[in-house]
Amino acid sequence: MENGEWKRPTDLFNKTNNYPETCMHLCAVKELIAYYNNRMKNIIPILTCLLLLTGCARDKEKRPITIGFSQCVGSDKWRQSMLDGIHRELSFYPNAKLIYKDADNSSEKQIEQIKELTAEGIDILIVSPNEAKPLNTIVEDIYNKGTPVIVIDRKTSSSLYTAYIGADNYEIGKRAGEYTANLLQGKGNIIEVMGLPGSTPAIERARGFYDGVKAHKDIHIIAEVYGNWRIEKVEEALNQVSPELQQKANLVFAHNDMMALGSYEYFKRKGDNNNLMFIGVDGLPNTGLQLVSNKILTATALYPTGGEEAIRTAMAVLNQQPFQKDNVLQTVIIDSTNITLMKLQADKISSQQADIERQQQMIDEQRKIYRNQSTVLFVIAGSLVIALILGGVAFYYLRENKKITRSLEQKNKAITEQQQQIIEMSEKARAAHEAKVKFFTNISHEFRTPLTLILAPLEDILHNGKFSFTIQQHLKLVQKNVIRLLRLVNQLMDFRKIELDKLKLRATENNLNDFITEIMEPFNWLAHKRNIDFRLISREKNIMLWFDANMMDKVIFNLLSNAFKFTADNGYIHITTEKNTAGNTVIIKVEDNGSGMLPDAADHAFELFYQNEITSQHGAGLGLSLSKELINLHKGTIKVNSEKWKGTCFEITLHSGTGHLAKEEMLTGKETEHHAYQDEKIFITELQQTQIQPDISSLATFGNGTTRSVLIVEDNTDLKNFIQGKLQPEYEVFTAENATTALQQAFDNIPDIVICDIVLPGKEDGMAVTNTLKNDMRTSHIPVILLTAKTTIEQQIEGMKNMADAYIVKPFNIDFLLETIKSVMRNRELLREHYTSELSVETKNQAPKKLDRKFINEFTAIIENNIANENFTIDELCSNMGISRVQLYRKVKALLGYNVNDYILNARLQKAKHYLSQGEYSVSEVAYKTGFSSPAYFSTVFKSKCGVTPREFKEK
Ligand code: FRU
Repeated sequence: MENGEWKRPTDLFNKTNNYPETCMHLCAVKELIAYYNNRMKNIIPILTCLLLLTGCARDKEKRPITIGFSQCVGSDKWRQSMLDGIHRELSFYPNAKLIYKDADNSSEKQIEQIKELTAEGIDILIVSPNEAKPLNTIVEDIYNKGTPVIVIDRKTSSSLYTAYIGADNYEIGKRAGEYTANLLQGKGNIIEVMGLPGSTPAIERARGFYDGVKAHKDIHIIAEVYGNWRIEKVEEALNQVSPELQQKANLVFAHNDMMALGSYEYFKRKGDNNNLMFIGVDGLPNTGLQLVSNKILTATALYPTGGEEAIRTAMAVLNQQPFQKDNVLQTVIIDSTNITLMKLQADKISSQQADIERQQQMIDEQRKIYRNQSTVLFVIAGSLVIALILGGVAFYYLRENKKITRSLEQKNKAITEQQQQIIEMSEKARAAHEAKVKFFTNISHEFRTPLTLILAPLEDILHNGKFSFTIQQHLKLVQKNVIRLLRLVNQLMDFRKIELDKLKLRATENNLNDFITEIMEPFNWLAHKRNIDFRLISREKNIMLWFDANMMDKVIFNLLSNAFKFTADNGYIHITTEKNTAGNTVIIKVEDNGSGMLPDAADHAFELFYQNEITSQHGAGLGLSLSKELINLHKGTIKVNSEKWKGTCFEITLHSGTGHLAKEEMLTGKETEHHAYQDEKIFITELQQTQIQPDISSLATFGNGTTRSVLIVEDNTDLKNFIQGKLQPEYEVFTAENATTALQQAFDNIPDIVICDIVLPGKEDGMAVTNTLKNDMRTSHIPVILLTAKTTIEQQIEGMKNMADAYIVKPFNIDFLLETIKSVMRNRELLREHYTSELSVETKNQAPKKLDRKFINEFTAIIENNIANENFTIDELCSNMGISRVQLYRKVKALLGYNVNDYILNARLQKAKHYLSQGEYSVSEVAYKTGFSSPAYFSTVFKSKCGVTPREFKEK
């Protein structure tokens, strides 16, 4: 403990490895306890830090050691004392385990038990052999196989062992002999009671005893018997000694104290030799020493058991520490002269041993506490580490959480600000919208008077004035559009009233079928004219229904008007009225087999200002939106079912009775006369076709206007007729209303120019028409002018990409259109001049359209190849080119400005000129080489076209 340094227990044990120094054991034990206590205090912080390492170290320290101990007999006190010593010493080695086997004085049994011990896997064998010879082989065997063997007390007859521990039995015998001789003063008879025959202590003690007394010739060992070390065998042994000899004997030397006591009791029982003295061996405190002290034995020779020494040596062997092979334990003769001292010493030793055991117990308890505390500490430290980790994780997430919360707060703030801005913006937008609608309504209102003022004098002029047919048509066009504007203005006003909640329902009870029949009236003449099957279908004659006649008038008119707009001639428009089975609703259907709507258009049919293909063609779709609002006022519904190119069905559902109407919404009596819809005129006029006929006078002025042709592709009949009227004097005009007929017309007639609207009914639009024309060899040369209301620059670029030659935005100036047509035609003219100069196809510096170049190349190549073929026909040329005769003529005329026959003739003559100028061929040969049937005909034609005869040309 000096210098605050703590010694390890093993160091302390090393200090106490001497049996007689038992008191030192005691100090060592105290130090050991103090060591454990202190270690407990100091170890806590270290253990916390080095928890894992400690675990490993503990494992290393605790490497288990198994010691096998084979005892020849375990029942006598001496051997029990040996085992106690072994246990005592073992308590300092917690990792050492002892397997103890008692052979019960049987050598065979001991051999078996040793085999069992090796089978159990011992690290070292401690053996006290019963008899020397029988145990020889097994002990040698184990030793040779590498297991260390410590022989204790008795020996085998071999020297193959690792270490021996025991007293020198010969020396004990000899000292006992010398003591006896001295005691008997050199004269006397001795009976020797020996141990087990064949056991080394018996042999050596007998030999030593004999040597101890042999110097005294008057001392005789008169009898030698075997008591086999056991008290109970003594009687039997001594009975072998004759009574005479027993009588003559002065001393009995027994090889151990127990046999000495047995001999004493034997002779005491007999009672015929009271002076006999007894000497034993072992000197154990509670037996031998007590017998000497009680004067039963005269003396005993101390024979230490060597238990502690055996374990210390075993551990030294196993820990590869230095050890002695033969460890001879000290002996001494104890008699009346030293018995008191020896007893005192023995008592002291046994009390110290008791102390040691007690301390040992305390150590065990401390060790247990230490182990428990270690475990607890280990768990606490483990928990602490886990807690620290969890704490770290929690701290990390806390920080992350704070960050997220902060960013969320910021986002929230931004969102709130944005929300506020949106609210403000929507408020502004609402106000702006309100202002816009108000302005719009007001301005609409303002329009009504001037429009009426235009309409009234116009109708007057139309009625009374005398104009040419064309002017009359123009005026009717103006009238129709004024009426259209009026209708839009009226509808806008109605909307505004609905929005402002000013349009109130004024319902009366009416006969629905009569009401509808009345509305149908103005349409009948149109249906008749266009052969449209137009009728009212109803199972019931009278369906009485409450509704606002003026409103319902507008709705039905609007639906019929739409149906007529989109139904082709020879189609049908059916109005059906029916009560539902429960009788609480009435359904009015307006169904046609007209052009129908695409799903998207049908979905948005009732939306105000929704732009779709129909609305873009026919103006703003106010009518349906207004109809829906009017039906809503009736708490009814209106829906549409439509399929493109199949037809449309509008379905209105109205409540029967008056349950759905407020009191103020119902008018009794005839407060309002139903008058035919005030805008009837507007609807009907709109449905009429305004025919603008060609101006005969202009035709006359321009004379032959049929040399050039124009195809007008426009679905708006008015506009189409208007343009047609303007172009007719100067051009041959073809017309088409959709892409299919446009392409048909173009391929059939090969017009000189195409004027095409972009938005056309049907799947293909003007762009597609242009694209098809420009990519077909028959029509690729035809210039196309696109005419449309689409106005963005992107749309114009798209048109140009489709190779349109010009792009005119509606509304346009008709003169501008006429000039554009002329300009495009003039450009064609220039191109044509280029193609036909010298009849060659020099296209190097020009960039005519690819398809046209291909056409010209193909056309000229076929003619070149057939220049000598006098039977070559136009039909052959057409079939080679894959186009019709008309297409060929038109295309050649358009691109080259020539009639095909003239072109071929010119080509032949050019070739002939070439041959003639070379001078290689005769005139006749040239004639045949250039496809003329005879030289005479060749000469005639040549002279008429070139002014000179071929011969003259050749000579020049
Ligand atoms: C015990 C014992 C001792 C004796 C020893 C010799 O069995 O008889 O009394 O001294 O054996 O091995």
